[in-house]
Amino acid sequence: MPSDRPKVLVTRRQFKDQVERLRAAADTVVLDRPAPATPDELRQAVRGCTAIFAHITDAITGEVMDAAGPQLRVVAEFGVGYDNVDAEAASQRNIAVGNTPGVLTETVADFAFAVIQASARRLAEADRFVRRGDWKWFDPLDLLGQDIDGSTLGIVGYGRIGSAVATRALVSGMNVIYYSRSQPEDGFGCTRVRTLDELLKRSDFVTLHCPLTPQTRGLIGREQLKKMKSTAVLVNTARGPIVDMEALTEALRDGTIAYAGLDVTDPEPIPANHPLLKMDNVTLLPHLASATVGTRHKMSEMTVDNILAVLEGRLPPNCVNAARLNWGR
Ligand code: 8YV
Repeated sequence: MPSDRPKVLVTRRQFKDQVERLRAAADTVVLDRPAPATPDELRQAVRGCTAIFAHITDAITGEVMDAAGPQLRVVAEFGVGYDNVDAEAASQRNIAVGNTPGVLTETVADFAFAVIQASARRLAEADRFVRRGDWKWFDPLDLLGQDIDGSTLGIVGYGRIGSAVATRALVSGMNVIYYSRSQPEDGFGCTRVRTLDELLKRSDFVTLHCPLTPQTRGLIGREQLKKMKSTAVLVNTARGPIVDMEALTEALRDGTIAYAGLDVTDPEPIPANHPLLKMDNVTLLPHLASATVGTRHKMSEMTVDNILAVLEGRLPPNCVNAARLNWGR
């Protein structure tokens, strides 16, 4: 018998207690499969939904929204970045887009700083060295890294996460400079530089913390990599397409820059035959920056809060397009 309860789609497996909260309010379908839904599967699965609990692997396009039907009211993204959701298409259809800002800031900043340190001290490479059985004896000149203390960290994007990375860098003795289009002058012991070029030229480590937008896609390409020091380390825990992967591979191969630490790639997962997989001067990680039990649980809770609010007739507490919606307020 068709139910008159609203329908919610959760596109990947999620914390049981949070799925239960949804089940108490709506007919909830969880796509608990090893791989993300294909675009076709997604269009099928969203049919009749009032809410979609979405993940970074789902391209929630206008077409997917239309496949859901006119009752779709909210796309709630499990994450702070929502570049996989066409927010403009959602606004045009009067659909709210929710996200999870704040709860993951410190966890992602911890991770970004860990990747900076792991890249500076070549930890992944050293682990492989030991596992291969290459550690025969003490060699004072083997696997030398770079000092963090006294070096310059350049932060691209000085929002919540970028500035939380800065606090970790400052207590570790780094000089911190940042490039931001929106933040005010010289934040909290750090110096704002006027241009991205200046940041790239001056930094020993460059870490990316801007969202993926049409303006930041390919922000770090061949020209920008050439401006960096040949000893520099590039860390990306933001979004893969901010960096031109082909240009980065070339730069790491020919010594334009020394090292990279990538938690994100373009595409994801990185293809099994990608040349970076064979190179030692890059640390590759599977998009883990927010992946702690506590943080992922809070993100799940916030995503469910965003959905339940809509099912109760309210705007999501964290809504990125509230100003564009006409919900009879
Ligand atoms: C992802 C993230 O959401 O919040 C973000 O923007 O990139 C991550 O926390 C995570 O991979 C879960 O999909």
